[in-house]
Amino acid sequence: MKNLFAKVSRNPISLSGVVITTISAIIFLTLFAIELVGFSGGPYVGIMAFLIVPAFFVGGLILIPFGIWRAQRKARIAVEAGEEPEPDNFPVIDLNMVKVRKTVLVFAALTVINVVIVATATYKGVEVMGSTKFCGTACHRVMAPEFTSYQRSPHARVKCVECHIGSGASWFVKSKLSGSWQLVSVLFKLYERPIPTPVHNLRPARETCEQCHWPTKFVGDRLKVITKFGEDEKSTEKKTALLLHVGGTMGSTSRGIHWHVDRGVRVSYSSDEKRETIGDVELTLPDGTQRIYKASTPLAKPAKNMRVMECVDCHNRPSHIYRLPDEEVDAALFEGRIDRTLPFIHREAVKALKATYATREEAQEKIRLAVHGFYTASYPDLAKAKSQAIDAAVASVQGIYNSNVWPSMKIAWGAYPSFLGHTVATGCFRCHDDEHKTADGRKISQDCALCHSLLAQDEADPKILKDLANP
Ligand code: HEC
Ligand code: HEC
Ligand code: HEC
Ligand code: HEC
Ligand code: HEC
Repeated sequence: MKNLFAKVSRNPISLSGVVITTISAIIFLTLFAIELVGFSGGPYVGIMAFLIVPAFFVGGLILIPFGIWRAQRKARIAVEAGEEPEPDNFPVIDLNMVKVRKTVLVFAALTVINVVIVATATYKGVEVMGSTKFCGTACHRVMAPEFTSYQRSPHARVKCVECHIGSGASWFVKSKLSGSWQLVSVLFKLYERPIPTPVHNLRPARETCEQCHWPTKFVGDRLKVITKFGEDEKSTEKKTALLLHVGGTMGSTSRGIHWHVDRGVRVSYSSDEKRETIGDVELTLPDGTQRIYKASTPLAKPAKNMRVMECVDCHNRPSHIYRLPDEEVDAALFEGRIDRTLPFIHREAVKALKATYATREEAQEKIRLAVHGFYTASYPDLAKAKSQAIDAAVASVQGIYNSNVWPSMKIAWGAYPSFLGHTVATGCFRCHDDEHKTADGRKISQDCALCHSLLAQDEADPKILKDLANP
């Protein structure tokens, strides 16, 4: 031991190895302690703490034996050449001299301060990188679609890391590792476009969504009113009213849509990679009863493992919400962002959005030309009188395009479908198709009344809504 210490302290390479290793260890421990206290600095603190600092740590460790080996080789060569091995040529520090003692003390104190400064600066610096803004904008073009859709979602105030990483050390390290791969793939443009979905290594919802949402909270029935507009000149308003049986009562008496994630209920399924076609479904009930629903046609290429159903199997777009042109224009008309008195505005806006454009710049220009062109050609007087409303409509339509379509990332309309219903994508009907059956003929039902009561469908002025408003 003493011998080793002598060897290390005698050559500068090994000594610098010791210094690097020690400083890395202190920075690592500081970052880790800050993390443990509960500050979640985000993925880049982790990259720093779990990748870069350890790399220095290991590098330092390697320098130590390397230094020893080099020094010994030098000495051997010298001896073979018949020369005296080089003497240690470190300066002599004589601690009996007051001046030297003071210098050493000052040096030691400064080193401590330096380490604290370096650790804090590193932490602060990388904390910035863990912020939503950084996640959403640093990789710029790559994450822009996710960042934009996120900013328009109910989770716009929830940090990216709360869903993508969550708390605790193991996922932290795991996501750091995949996070650093992501950095590499962005640097070298190795990522797929569009970024593939679903995210297969997303952290289970139990540990992310359920930190904020109480899964078995009783929601009961939820009234949902969907407003749409027609393709006619007046863009006639139509309403659909649904009473969604969300449920959530916990335990064996539970019913309704959230029953799938109730305590003791376990639905698992096999599917293709995209989770769009679902094969066999297995169900375990709280009392232990098991049922297997076989798909009518077996999967061509099933994914490796059965997946246990959780929040994200229905709420697959809680934050990155993309809509179709009709839905977007409906929302804009309903909220008054587009003037609904402009003739044929719904039809024209949707038409301009659905056309194919090579770039966003081209889309902006051509959308403007299309909408203006339509009004100047068909309604010249109105085009002059309502030019401001038309300009506002154009700006809205351009905004809609920019929030949903990203030619540079190959994201076209409908690239990321939502599984929450069954009208836009197959969604619930991936299982609820009356085609998944048990051996004794029990089906996963498509009975319309199972999930909702359809109170009104595409009615101009549904009576039920009037009755609810004026009881
Ligand atoms: C409320 C939770 C939540 C928040 C907040 C969130 N995400 Fe996501 N994100 C998800 C879910 C869930 C998926 C996976 C969808 C799937 O697997 O089908 C996802 C998928 C992604 C994908 C893969 C592409 C896609 O759309 O499927 C990227 C990239 C991404 N998120 C980046 C981000 C960034 C950047 C932020 C912050 C600006 C962020 N996320 C914030 C829940 C969230
Ligand atoms: C950090 C806390 C947090 C996390 C994590 C979180 N949410 Fe939320 N979620 C919220 C808040 C807050 C709202 C309410 C937003 C509002 O109404 O303005 C919300 C709203 C919702 C809604 C209702 C949306 C609507 O249109 O009314 C759904 C559904 C939802 N979250 C699902 C999820 C899912 C699925 C996940 C996991 C992928 C998740 N949440 C993760 C905080 C969170
Ligand atoms: C992975 C397959 C799968 C998907 C996807 C799925 N379900 Fe189910 N669901 C089942 C199974 C299995 C049952 C139990 C069938 C039975 O009763 O034999 C069920 C039962 C139900 C029930 C009745 C629960 C009760 O007993 O009260 C409702 C309501 C329901 N599902 C709604 C939905 C909705 C809404 C969606 C889409 C947002 C959906 N399901 C998506 C598999 C699925
Ligand atoms: C079987 C599909 C399915 C699963 C699984 C599922 N949900 Fe839902 N959830 C729905 C549907 C459908 C609604 C109603 C949507 C609407 O109102 O448009 C809903 C509504 C919600 C709401 C809004 C409730 C309110 O008060 O209005 C929240 C929050 C929510 N879900 C969270 C979760 C969380 C957290 C999980 C996982 C533990 C989960 N959901 C699992 C289908 C599902
Ligand atoms: C497995 C559950 C389930 C079954 C079965 C089901 N629906 Fe739905 N349906 C939903 C959900 C969930 C939504 C709401 C999605 C959302 O939040 O926007 C919905 C929405 C709708 C809407 C409104 C969509 C829109 O955008 O206008 C209509 C209409 C509708 N369903 C009709 C039907 C009819 C008709 C049947 C019977 C063939 C049926 N549904 C069966 C779950 C179901």
